[in-house]
Amino acid sequence: MCGIIGYVGKKNAINILIQSLEALEYRGYDSAGIAYGTCNRIEIIKTSGKIKNLKNKINPDIHSNIGIGHTRWATHGRPNDLNAHPHKIGKFTIVHNGIIENSETLKKLLIKENYKFKSETDSEVIAGLLDKLYSEKNDILNVLKQLKKLLIGSYALGILCDDIPGTIYAVRKDSPLIIGISDEGNFIASDVPAILKYTKKYMLLRSNEIAEINDKITVYNEKLEPINKEILIFDGNLEDAEKNGFDPFMVKEIYEEPKVIKETITPLLKFGMESLNDSFPNFKKYNKIQIIGCGSAYHAGLIGKSLIEKYGDMPVSVEVASEFRYQKVFLDKKTLVILISQSGETADTMASLRKVKELNIDTLAIVNVLSSSIAREADNVVYTKAGPEISVATTKAYLAQITILSLIALDIAYCKKIINDEKANQIIKSFEDLSKIIKEMIEIDYQDIAKDLYKHQTCFYIGRGIDYALSMEGSLKLKEISYINSICYPAGELKHGTISLIEDGTPVIAVITDKKIADKTISNIKEVKSRGAFVILIINDNIKVETEVADKIIRIPTTNDFTQSIITAIPLQLIGYETAKLLGRDIDKPKNLAKSVTVE
Ligand code: G6P
Repeated sequence: MCGIIGYVGKKNAINILIQSLEALEYRGYDSAGIAYGTCNRIEIIKTSGKIKNLKNKINPDIHSNIGIGHTRWATHGRPNDLNAHPHKIGKFTIVHNGIIENSETLKKLLIKENYKFKSETDSEVIAGLLDKLYSEKNDILNVLKQLKKLLIGSYALGILCDDIPGTIYAVRKDSPLIIGISDEGNFIASDVPAILKYTKKYMLLRSNEIAEINDKITVYNEKLEPINKEILIFDGNLEDAEKNGFDPFMVKEIYEEPKVIKETITPLLKFGMESLNDSFPNFKKYNKIQIIGCGSAYHAGLIGKSLIEKYGDMPVSVEVASEFRYQKVFLDKKTLVILISQSGETADTMASLRKVKELNIDTLAIVNVLSSSIAREADNVVYTKAGPEISVATTKAYLAQITILSLIALDIAYCKKIINDEKANQIIKSFEDLSKIIKEMIEIDYQDIAKDLYKHQTCFYIGRGIDYALSMEGSLKLKEISYINSICYPAGELKHGTISLIEDGTPVIAVITDKKIADKTISNIKEVKSRGAFVILIINDNIKVETEVADKIIRIPTTNDFTQSIITAIPLQLIGYETAKLLGRDIDKPKNLAKSVTVE
């Protein structure tokens, strides 16, 4: 949710800011802007729309050694030029990611002091407040300390002060911010991929710290004493964050799936069940699991529920984080809470984690971004090794999430002696064989299916049990990137009302991987088909079905329950992609969305 960048150093800041903003654009892309220092003045260029609009506004001859930049996902105020960041009031220019909850109160106070505001944003208030505090006490560090006390909400801030040219200040709370370090200059950024072109070295800025960045980096604690910070080296490479001939990122990321699964399982299965057991908490301590996530992470949780309940014989509840955080909680010390998040920064998932931790209930995070907030605050963390995921619609990270959840189900079943050594080893082998099967699934041509879908306004997905969970994600993929109104239902539920929407030619995508209840779903398919639906069936190759049951059939290689969902997710992702492509959509940056949802 909004990307921020800052650079100060020997190179031309303008080029760096633009390149880094392009790398951050997945966080929000409805407006963008930069502020840079020149001849003791701060200049601001900003505009609504994507970074390319901003680039068109920038004179290529501008040169500066310091600047801050922002790409926006609107929360307060429409995406227009005035609401775009940076905002400047008096001596202060800022870029902000997050939400200031008391901005209206602060604004009223500042208006009384004759401050004028040009935008409708909560962010502009921060610039005004900084200017007011600084006019009272000409001491920037104390001003920033004071600012942190006055702001309620979440923020990552890049700050320039007219009186201190050549220095960027940064503070954060509940929104991510890292500090990049290189011989040629230093950075602030919302995430590491934004600065990977220039450096792999970075520091994490904590909520109680203030950073002062010029040719050196000084980080202060809450007593304003300089502190030593650990320097981290990003464990990935630039290629992971670049398109490398693929366009869009979503396709690149789907093609990376075989590698991602291999990298995710290798450390966990290095010594078979022994290393799997060591990687996870001792599940025998618990008699219940609560899974929490948002979007696709929630859908991954539903797959986890199905497998853990079936094989681990343990009850699992799955809840959307934005609901969980305000619900009454009935969990006890024998419950393990699993939080799933690609970014590790999703505000609702983070709030749910904190709520559970206050109750002293054990937590395990399944996270993709190393050292992200959720990874740091959970009691235990297991990483999905998906690498940077740029496309807003997740693919490879979701696949890695369901892989880890399947391995958790296997571990619980093994610990409880529901599955013996021989069976466990067979299942481990099937995980090791996955990369090859995933590659084969990616190579299938899904364009033909997309041609059946792209002209329709509405589409249905149906499935039962684990296939319903898979269908929910398939439906979300299609809807978020193609904008087709795609609706997912448990196959048996459609006839309780929704079937009235089926007309001649309405596409229905049915998923069947569970042989035991295949006949039930096939009956539901017949119900929609007899009402005119055009049925696309995704089904295991060991389940017999008459060809006339569906209009199109995609056969999936049959493996076992632990790996079956991982394979079946691929056609669902690619059907969404091919359909959006036929419609000419902006696949990596669907309208109104953002990758990292760091606001409530
Ligand atoms: C956004 C993304 C989704 C993602 C969800 C949760 O809505 O567009 O792809 O599933 O956030 O994000 P997280 O980073 O917590 O997995």
